[in-house]
Amino acid sequence: MSTLSAKERIIYQIYPKSFKDSNGDGIGDLKGITAKLKYLKQLGINTIWLNPIYVSPQIDNGYDVADYYQIDEKLGTMADFDELVAKAHALGLDIILDFVMNHTSDQHPWFQAALKDKDSEFRNCYLWHQGKNGGPPNNWGSFFGGSVWQKDPLDSNNYYFHLFAKEMPDLNWAEPKVQVEMLKIAKFWLEHGVDGFRLDAFIHIAKADFEQDMLAKSAEPQIAEMFYANLPQVQVYLKEFIAQLHQIKPDIFILGEAASADIDLAVDYTTPKKESCDTVVTFRYFAEDKSQVESDLPQIGQPVKLDILGFRSNMLEWQKRLEGVSYPTLYWSNHDMPRILSRFAPKKESKACAKMLATLMYLQRGIACIYYGEELGMRSQTLGTVADFEDPQIVDFAKQAKQKGWRDGEILRKASQAHKMAARLPLPFDTTAYAGFSNVQPWKWSKEKNVASIAEQMSDPDSVLNFYRQILQLKQKPVFIEGRFILENTSSELYVYRRVIDEHKQVLVICNLSEHEKSYPCGAFTKVLLSQNAKVSAAQAKLAPYGSLILQK
Ligand code: GLC
Ligand code: CA
Repeated sequence: MSTLSAKERIIYQIYPKSFKDSNGDGIGDLKGITAKLKYLKQLGINTIWLNPIYVSPQIDNGYDVADYYQIDEKLGTMADFDELVAKAHALGLDIILDFVMNHTSDQHPWFQAALKDKDSEFRNCYLWHQGKNGGPPNNWGSFFGGSVWQKDPLDSNNYYFHLFAKEMPDLNWAEPKVQVEMLKIAKFWLEHGVDGFRLDAFIHIAKADFEQDMLAKSAEPQIAEMFYANLPQVQVYLKEFIAQLHQIKPDIFILGEAASADIDLAVDYTTPKKESCDTVVTFRYFAEDKSQVESDLPQIGQPVKLDILGFRSNMLEWQKRLEGVSYPTLYWSNHDMPRILSRFAPKKESKACAKMLATLMYLQRGIACIYYGEELGMRSQTLGTVADFEDPQIVDFAKQAKQKGWRDGEILRKASQAHKMAARLPLPFDTTAYAGFSNVQPWKWSKEKNVASIAEQMSDPDSVLNFYRQILQLKQKPVFIEGRFILENTSSELYVYRRVIDEHKQVLVICNLSEHEKSYPCGAFTKVLLSQNAKVSAAQAKLAPYGSLILQK
């Protein structure tokens, strides 16, 4: 049984295809992960979250699951998985799996049966509806572009619902079969030793009445979150599901992906404890500065910078409201967004920024979740062709940008700073041709110079990697687990907070978010726990651009 409580968890997110290739086919795999467990242990994490590893046609990199009970053959076998779990556990590392509960692949046997036969017992496991005025049932838009509706091949005036790609039909959670099957899948993996799940897109499992349209100026399908995100019924399904998971495994750890959840919903989704997520990931921390976005081009290919003021107030709200309730997930990047350094840091300041941002984020109250490669200071990398994005929306963006006179290089550079795919590249282990990730050309590759490799950073005491180790060591101290969070009132160029257990046991964290030198009166906090580009003298903290400092009394 796992001995970790939620608040002690330090998570490392692995995108399996890009972590480490063990058999020379250019695709990362389970054996690759097993081979590098010691590296993760030394980093100081204690929980590994794997993006989907199930059999999948890979329309959406594994989030389109065709068989929930088998490992995708490109990633390995069930024996490889069992070995990974056993070796991880032996090192004190827990494994949690992505749990895809909102949809299946269109290749899943249920959908195949439902598609071929209107009377199939699996028909009602998906969502179907009659069209309206010769078109789809309503004007709701898919997150992946176009309508959420796709024609039923058996009936030209009937449609099925897909919130993501059309090859990913949404499940009907009102159908008991769906609920029973999802529980069975979870049980199967718990029996294989997993310690918990990351619930993928769970906030979408309930939908509103389909006979409603979004108010809209154009005939285009519209994103319609009010009709398919965070409906009250989601909580009913969720609580029932998690309560049952707890019966199977009382100490299970549940990380819920709740991209658009606000703080009120975060409270709902994380209480009461035994039938809720331990923590939820919101995308709302990251307020966006859209001042550079050209309004006549699709936003998907245009970088947006982090809006510091907005970020600061969102973060404060989550820290305060979840005090005594649950632990927020603390993260900067994941597989669905550009890497943080590309959203925040000037290239030449990457290293200082990586360290400062780690200090800022992970020593707050909550569960740290580090996206693979972040510990090296990886940025999103520029992809070589439009096709590399594997996204029709980028093809469309590129076409429109070209018409406006953008050059090819500029299109690729901008789109790479904006799109999730450029944040999913192989991890560099050494300085050999394919960075020690593989000995052949990896499944996705960029010629752009990446960060210093793991081997180089290991032997450099000043590296981002060694800094992350120190941060994660501090993170395990009681004051950073239990301490109250107090944000100090400063200009937006500084981010200063205290973690407080009592008058004597407290720490002060000072981060300089600006390209200017900054000072901050630090009073009785004179003992330096960790610093980069900063020092203390005469009760003043002095921070170089993007410097950071952790002080104790
Ligand atoms: C989640 C995943 C994302 C995926 C989507 C559909 O948001 O993080 O990568 O595309 O769900 O499964
Ligand atoms: Ca491989």
